[in-house]
Amino acid sequence: MLISSENFEKDLQRLRATALEALAKIADLRILEQWRADYLGRGDGQLTQILRSISGIPNSERPRAGGLANELKLLLEKSYSDQHEFLKRQEANNPTKRVELDVTLPGRPLVLGGFHPTTKVLREICDAFTPMGFQIAEGPEVEWDTFNFELLNIPTDHPARDMFNTFWVDGKQGDGWDGMLLRTHTSPMQARVMRDTSPPIRVLVPGRCFRYESTDATHEWHFFQVEGLAVDEGITFANLKGTLYEFARRMFGAERKIRFRCDYFPFVEPGVDVSIDCFNCSGGGCRICKDTGWIEIMGAGMVHPKVLEMANYDPVRYTGFAFGMGIERIAMLKYGIEDVRLFYGNDFRFLRQF
Ligand code: FA5
Repeated sequence: MLISSENFEKDLQRLRATALEALAKIADLRILEQWRADYLGRGDGQLTQILRSISGIPNSERPRAGGLANELKLLLEKSYSDQHEFLKRQEANNPTKRVELDVTLPGRPLVLGGFHPTTKVLREICDAFTPMGFQIAEGPEVEWDTFNFELLNIPTDHPARDMFNTFWVDGKQGDGWDGMLLRTHTSPMQARVMRDTSPPIRVLVPGRCFRYESTDATHEWHFFQVEGLAVDEGITFANLKGTLYEFARRMFGAERKIRFRCDYFPFVEPGVDVSIDCFNCSGGGCRICKDTGWIEIMGAGMVHPKVLEMANYDPVRYTGFAFGMGIERIAMLKYGIEDVRLFYGNDFRFLRQF
């Protein structure tokens, strides 16, 4: 269709006026983008449509018309980018628009660590005893022979020393004591607590122990124990039984049965090993209890009179009980863990399960 260059120019002027008027009112970048599509869009932008009609202008007038159209195109493009720049700056200075923050989006999940199974079980054990009046105390991991053995009725030549494969430390003599070692059990704290306080005593001692042993599924060279000690006038074996029975119920379930059998530890008399009926098979026999129906959980007994004497307590006036259990072994029972070496292997596949 033929059109005159005059009409073409009028169309350009009309477009220029409406486009610039509309542009001046725009205060939002999204609307500005819409304006660009409306006027400069390649497919059906208004300027593009006018440009398409240029082919209807007589050849002689076409260069001038083309020049005018091109001028308008450059003007609109420049106006667009000026306005874009202006609005961007304005938005950057506007605190409400500066960050495109959608507060309704869910937060990024934080990678949280969890408690180590030893810590979890240790806390459960403490929670079971503290309502019964036991206070928590901690002692040194590097210990003197005196506390680890001598004051527990295990003199140098006593065969019971063979029960505790010991890491000896090349240390100086100190405070009059000789023989530095990594404590083989938490029992030295019995002697320390009795030395530093007077009865009544009810104390719970969690802590790391070390033994010079080759490792296997049930033995680590370092592990945790919890020691318990109660000393007062009139404490009997019945108190020990009642306390440990209550602990077993709190730790392993209200229906648990408990069994005491004779055992030997030089620092208690009588000494016992304490078992619970298997919580997995209720005594019927299974893999966890090795078909015995019972699971051994700790050593215990009445504090030996000699130990009381060495702590300068009168063994006629005072009696007491003590017990000691391995925390990893309790955790193994609770969680069905088959190898103690998993505890300190730092394998995330194991640790993430707790
Ligand atoms: C003792 O260490 C005594 N001190 C316990 C005690 C305290 C008896 C008070 C009487 C009165 P035993 O050597 O059996 O006893 O160790 C106690 C517990 O520590 C064991 O039942 C076991 O659970 C844990 N244990 C011992 N050796 C290891 C080891 N190598 N790896 C992991 N756990 C161990």
